[in-house]
Amino acid sequence: MAYLRWRRFLELAAIDRPWVGELFMRRGDGPKAAPAKVWDGYYAKGAYDELLESDQRHHHRLLAALVAEAKPHPRILDIGCGEGAFYDSIRALTPARYLGVDLSDLGIERAKQRLAGELKPGVVDFVTGDGARFETDEKFDVIVFPECLEYLGDPEALIAHYAKLLNPGGVLGFTQWLGLKSLRLWRQIKTTTDVLDEAVVSAPWGGAWQVWTCRPR
Ligand SMILES: C[S@@+](CC[C@H](N)C(=O)[O-])C[C@H]1O[C@@H](n2cnc3c(N)ncnc32)[C@H](O)[C@@H]1O
Repeated sequence: MAYLRWRRFLELAAIDRPWVGELFMRRGDGPKAAPAKVWDGYYAKGAYDELLESDQRHHHRLLAALVAEAKPHPRILDIGCGEGAFYDSIRALTPARYLGVDLSDLGIERAKQRLAGELKPGVVDFVTGDGARFETDEKFDVIVFPECLEYLGDPEALIAHYAKLLNPGGVLGFTQWLGLKSLRLWRQIKTTTDVLDEAVVSAPWGGAWQVWTCRPR
């Protein structure tokens, strides 16, 4: 517990003092891309079941509220959607379009089962794909990356890629477990975007997430 408190102290200090993050970053703290079978394995053993619990989803709810302010009834692309947890938080916005993409077949299968009653081809869909470079002819008002940024490779290349899939004035949204590594990724993203909002959401049990929205320059 003392160690966790120390880490949280460092993480909060590092939000506006990058040198703190860089000084205390652990070896191996960096982006962690992995093949689909690794993610399938996590879903198969239930490692992500808890992500669907209410006290794990405050970051989704805040991001959904920011999305709603940016654009009512938006066209949304959800990268790294897993079982569709973020969809639960934007359902009430009645998005004109929702497309969830995940590298894991099993994650997508579960999303389709869980939300079977809400799937509508061309309106609400879940597909398997690589979120590091997902290609489509569609354009979106909002593209979100809930808790998956660190698995998608170089952040600047990611922004350049998804800027092309945004409608004019479109918004990118991120949530990320609060950590020195994710703070570094966020700083990298700030170099090519204009920040609209950024916040830290804490749960009483000790979890904390960064939530932010921005526009590519
Ligand atoms: C921590 S889970 C987050 C799931 C969901 N977004 C949420 O907020 O509950 C990370 C997700 O990223 C997905 N993922 C990892 N690498 C990916 C990639 N290259 N493209 C698309 N999804 C990826 C994993 O399969 C997993 O579903």
